[in-house]
Amino acid sequence: MALELTELHDDFGAEIAGIDLANGIGDALFEEIELAFNCYSVLVLRGQTLDDDSQIEFSRRFGPLEIATPTYANTGEVTPIGRVSNVDADGNKLPADHTRVKYLTGNLMWHSDSSFKETPALASLLSAREVPPEGGDTEFVSQRAAYARLPDNLKAKIDDLVVIHDFVFSRGKISEDAVTPEHEKLVPPVEQRLVRTNPMTGEKNYFVGSHAHLIAGWPEAESRALIEDLIQRAVRPEDIYLHRWQPGDLVIWDNRCVLHRGRPFDADKYRRVLHRTTVAGAGPSLVAG
Ligand code: SIN
Repeated sequence: MALELTELHDDFGAEIAGIDLANGIGDALFEEIELAFNCYSVLVLRGQTLDDDSQIEFSRRFGPLEIATPTYANTGEVTPIGRVSNVDADGNKLPADHTRVKYLTGNLMWHSDSSFKETPALASLLSAREVPPEGGDTEFVSQRAAYARLPDNLKAKIDDLVVIHDFVFSRGKISEDAVTPEHEKLVPPVEQRLVRTNPMTGEKNYFVGSHAHLIAGWPEAESRALIEDLIQRAVRPEDIYLHRWQPGDLVIWDNRCVLHRGRPFDADKYRRVLHRTTVAGAGPSLVAG
């Protein structure tokens, strides 16, 4: 079966129609989806009826799943399901100033999930269970397209650089106490390759985002200037695919080359419940590329 694809943006992204993941899919169809994932970086499948078990089962086809670490946003329960939600486990809506809801505002910065982990994530799969009638969209950009747009001298300058990603640095932008001391011990700064190559397509991209703190061996000011410049080159308004959520949407993205951010919504008025599974990468980017 050839996938029914509709492109979402000139640079990246495709919507796939005609597939019901909850009923399970065969290996040949999964291989087509995996190829589309490597080529398009963001895939949208609407009208899915996934529960947590079927989301986990489908996500595992991409590889082993990350298990959530304890944060203000979850209980530390050993589960591959991350709840991106202003609703607690008993179904009660939390106020906008609740610690958990404030903690999730870190997702409003452009980032790549788990780039602060030694093995950064391959993919995230986010499924919409309840969505607000306004706001709460998610935006995506391609660092592959942004790399391709760089002048040759800048490509040559960054090709061999290493970046230090640091969760405490990024969450410190929300508030000084956004990370518990227990959590901080689990997320020491890590080194990531700045320029990565997709092993299936051979295309290169750079890899920055909110967790990217310093260029290894560079002074702070020069590091920040280069990282900010690379982020800004990727997130011009015309580079963005904005996803307006409907219940039943599943969006899959390639964290190796995509930046994303959630958009604000009125958390005092509306409920927003999205469940995320995160597929671990093949290994540290310094080794696995
Ligand atoms: C995320 O960063 O994984 C979630 C983004 C969102 O809340 O839209």
